[in-house]
Amino acid sequence: MGSWVAVCHASELPSGTHRVVDVDGARVAVFNLQGRYYAIEDVCTHDGGMLTGGLVEGDQIVCPRHGARFSIRTGQALTPPAFEPTAAFPVRLIDGEIQVRDDRWD
Ligand code: FES
Repeated sequence: MGSWVAVCHASELPSGTHRVVDVDGARVAVFNLQGRYYAIEDVCTHDGGMLTGGLVEGDQIVCPRHGARFSIRTGQALTPPAFEPTAAFPVRLIDGEIQVRDDRWD
């Protein structure tokens, strides 16, 4: 079971921002959307590019390479040229610290 990894203190991730952390070798982007936290793998399933660096519009991120949109909440691919979801991860807040865990191998 993957262990919880500290992202940062909640005060360091205000609403509308995100940051990338390494979680057991996976590059994970953690977002604050209006006070709720979400984490998806920072990998576009179209061609393996990084999603961060792309525009964030509402609860979607637009891949900076060819424009596929992904749901930040679920990792679902919403528009071509990506069709497969990127991984989504559980996030929790413990004593003011945001933590994320890669649960794919549980
Ligand atoms: S690598 Fe993301 S849309 Fe092509």
